[in-house]
Order: sequence, then C-alpha cells, then structure tokens
Amino acid sequence: MLRLLRVVALLLGAAAAASVSAARSGEISRDDFPRGFVFGAGTSAYQYEGAAAEDGRTPSVWDTFAHAHAHAGSGDNSVNGDVAADGYHKYKEDIKLMKDTGLDAYRFSISWPRIIPNGRGEVNPKGVEYYNNLINELLDHGIQPHVTIFQYDLPQILEDEYDGWLSPQIIDDFTAYADVCFREFGDRVTNWTTLNEPNALVSLGYDAGLGPPGRCSKPFGLGDCSRGDSVNEPYIVGHNCLLAHSSAVSLYRKKYQAKQHGLIGINMFINNILPFTNSTEDIAAAKRAQAFYTGWFLNPLYYGDYPVVMKENTGSKLPKFSRNQSEQLINSMDFLGINYYTILYVKDNPHDAPSDERDFMADMSAKAIFASNSTTGFYVPGYGLQQVLEHLKQSYGNPPIYIQENGYPMHQEVVFDDGPRVEFLSEHLRSLLISIRNGSNTRGYFA
Ligand SMILES: *[C@@H]1O[C@H](CO)[C@@H](O)[C@H](O)[C@H]1NC(C)=O
Ligand SMILES: *[C@@H]1O[C@H](CO)[C@@H](O)[C@H](O)[C@H]1NC(C)=O
Ligand SMILES: *[C@@H]1O[C@H](CO)[C@@H](O)[C@H](O)[C@H]1NC(C)=O
Ligand SMILES: *[C@@H]1O[C@H](CO)[C@@H](O)[C@H](O)[C@H]1NC(C)=O
Ligand SMILES: *[C@@H]1O[C@H](CO)[C@@H](O)[C@H](O)[C@H]1NC(C)=O
Repeated sequence: MLRLLRVVALLLGAAAAASVSAARSGEISRDDFPRGFVFGAGTSAYQYEGAAAEDGRTPSVWDTFAHAHAHAGSGDNSVNGDVAADGYHKYKEDIKLMKDTGLDAYRFSISWPRIIPNGRGEVNPKGVEYYNNLINELLDHGIQPHVTIFQYDLPQILEDEYDGWLSPQIIDDFTAYADVCFREFGDRVTNWTTLNEPNALVSLGYDAGLGPPGRCSKPFGLGDCSRGDSVNEPYIVGHNCLLAHSSAVSLYRKKYQAKQHGLIGINMFINNILPFTNSTEDIAAAKRAQAFYTGWFLNPLYYGDYPVVMKENTGSKLPKFSRNQSEQLINSMDFLGINYYTILYVKDNPHDAPSDERDFMADMSAKAIFASNSTTGFYVPGYGLQQVLEHLKQSYGNPPIYIQENGYPMHQEVVFDDGPRVEFLSEHLRSLLISIRNGSNTRGYFA
C-alpha cells in the first residue's frame, strides 16, 4: 500500500501550473483532466486484509489455492493472504496516507466469506462492522468508496458443496450475497462493481489452472490438473458469471437504486491485442482473440449474445441464453470497469481437432506472444491503452468507463528506485488524456 501510494503521490502531488502546451510536451497535471474526473487507487480483499481466520471469516478458494501452491508449508506468509497488508487492522493508517496522497476515491473488494461465512444464510456482524468502519473512515476523509463485490475469493464451502461457479446455484447465492452488501452498505457506497475480471477467472481458474480454484485438464492446463475439464468448464463458468452479474444488477435496480442513487457495473481484464505480423492470418487472429478474450463477455452485456466467431468455433460447448436472459443482460451496466496493463501480440495458430477436443485457446486458434523488453512483460508506452479506449468507444457505444487497475510490478528491493514505474504510469496517464480529449467517456483512473 505504502509503495503504491508513493507512486500516486509522485504523479498527483506535483500538480503545479502545467499548461496545455506542457501537457503536449509531456508534463501533465490533474487540472488537465475534466472536472469531476476521479483519481484513486485500489486493492482487493485477499491481498489487503489479512486476518484470514479472525472474527468468523472462513477460508475462500484463494486461501486454499495459495496454501496448496505457493511454497506450501514453508511458514512464509508473504506467499499467501494470511497476513497480507494487514489492512483489517491498519486501515486507519492507510486512509491517512490516502488522504495525504490526494486520492479522490479508493477501490476495494468485499470478502464474501468474511460477511457470510457459510456462503449463504447467516450474516457475520463482525465482518459487516469491519466494512462499516472502513467505509465511514473513508467518507470522513472525503474519499469515495468504490466497491467490488466479488474478486476471486469464493467461500471454499460453496466450492466444496457444488463446485462454485460451475453450478447455476451460484447465481442465487451470489445475488443473495450482493443483496446483503447493498442493504448494509448501499446507503454510503454508490459505485458498485459486481465481478472483477470474470474473463481472467475463467481462463486462469478453469483452463490453465493457474489461479483459484485451480481446475484444468491435460494437455491444456499448466497446473496440476487433478480436477477439472479445460474443454468445457471455462464456458460454463463464463455463462454463470454473466447470469449472476445480471441477476444482481436486476435486484439492485428493483430494490435499491431508486433510493440509494448508486451506479453499478462489471469489470473486465483487457489487453490491447495486436497482430504479431501484418499477414492476413495474424490480423484475423488478432480480431478473433479480441472476440474471445473480451467480446465473450462484452457482447452479451451490450448486445445480448456471444460473438459470432465464438459460436462458430466452440460448437455445442457454448451455453445459450434464453431470450429473457439476453434481455436482462443488455444494458445491465451503468459503467464498465477495465483493468489494463499491457499490449499482447498474437499469431494465427490453426487447430484441426474437433471442438469437443479443444480448449479455449485452441478454439481461439491464436497464440499469445509477449514481446516486451522489460522484465515484467509490460509495455511502457501508453498507446495500447489509447487503442483499447478507442475500441470500446467504437464497438460498444462509448460507455462510461472507469480504469480500475493499471500499474507496473517491480521487485521489492528496487522500490525506492522506481523510475520505470513512474515512466509507465506517466505514459499511461498521458495516453488517457489524449483519449479523453478525443471523446472517450472515461470517468476515472485507479492505480
Ligand atoms: C461514484 O463515484 C464518483 C467518483 O468517486 C462520485 O463522484 C460519485 O458521487 C459516486 N456515485 C455516483 C452515483 O456517481
Ligand atoms: C503493421 O501495419 C501498421 C500500420 O501500417 C504498422 O503501424 C505496424 O508497425 C505494422 N506491424 C508490423 C508488425 O509490421
Ligand atoms: C425473466 O424471467 C424472470 C423469472 O421468470 C423474471 O423475474 C424476469 O422479470 C424476466 N426478465 C425479463 C427481462 O423478462
Ligand atoms: C524498454 O525499456 C526501456 C528502459 O526501461 C524503456 O524506456 C522503454 O520504454 C521500454 N520499451 C518498451 C516497449 O516497453
Ligand atoms: C479519435 O476518434 C476518432 C473517432 O472515433 C478515431 O477515428 C480516431 O482514430 C481517434 N484518434 C486517436 C488519436 O485516437
């Protein structure tokens, strides 16, 4: 947290009197952005809170995954969320730092197993109390809470009971959990995001098996693949995520929005996808990859159905929406949250196997190539963000957007020599400003 805040402070603190011409030559400040544009920073419950077994919280699939995979049994808590940033105990100190930094807003997620330890049913008053304290402390410091309802940490008990997101039962349970969040916090929280990066959840958690709950099957998965089915499960989980989102939004609109006056959206992980060469095949592969990585979710949300190329390539594996479900999906968002980090080059990669023997990557028939010069694999130049915002403007009717994540990972030991990170963030803010001046409806930026 400290580290992150220091960077944001560097960016925002030096506001001073930057003119428009200075902006063009590279120096920009907060004043160059439209009135009301929001600058914030964000964390997720599992990386931030710690206190994993305190005050009634039960394990989530993240606890299980981190304990099983990251140096299990080493006794080193830096590889799991048992202590994390210890935000459960230190949020007041952090909010002071946020205030000093000049943040307008703070994005955090709520831990489902902290407020509903059995996944459904009884609400844990201690968990609710923590979030009430956090929200009130933020508001006392003039910082707007932006809340993500689900960020990977499904209660393990629901994973054990019915395989979590694989079962349509999740739709009702997620909606009931969201109902508790709206009821308890919605008088003060007016920016809600239902799901964080469902498009990353499906591929990491159910195809590659590299994120919780770590399901996959060989030869596709890169995890241990003791459970799972990379051919079918990603599509089932994606479908349930979309239906759970639209169900929670529909509840919010019916029961809360008129009196709480909040906004609700969903979050996607979006890379700028470019063809590795300008061959016709690679250009087509880049279009296909865009449809598979983000159109998979954005097309149902804006147009009520999956992209045509996905339906063609996946055959009967891709679940279908009823007319009623499509209608509920369309415009189930007041804004789109995006997490943008880098440019991804793709090459054509044709597959002959029938669709019931292919996983998501093979259905997509494109191969990702990371071609950056940095150790992180992230591109310093910011034009990728600009192109993503242009794509969203042209393909999805220029929706209101919050950039909910952007940043540049660095090793802990070089934290006080973070030139490349400052350069990365400056570059991206400059590109963002260019996009806004060219009509992008982006309303805020969270480091
Ligand atoms: C949403 O967030 C913005 C920025 O933090 C804030 O100004 C606004 O009041 C919040 N709520 C709504 C309904 O816009
Ligand atoms: C492909 O063409 C575009 C537009 O002419 C150009 O900017 C880009 O550098 C080319 N890409 C490659 C890999 O040659
Ligand atoms: C879809 O069906 C459900 C349950 O039958 C109903 O509550 C809902 O209003 C319907 N939605 C639309 C958009 O027709
Ligand atoms: C490559 O690294 C240098 C030094 O860190 C940086 O200035 C440059 O922007 C990087 N290029 C890309 C494409 O990331
Ligand atoms: C500005 O927006 C127009 C219309 O969407 C688009 O054609 C153009 O490429 C954009 N320019 C930049 C620099 O993004």
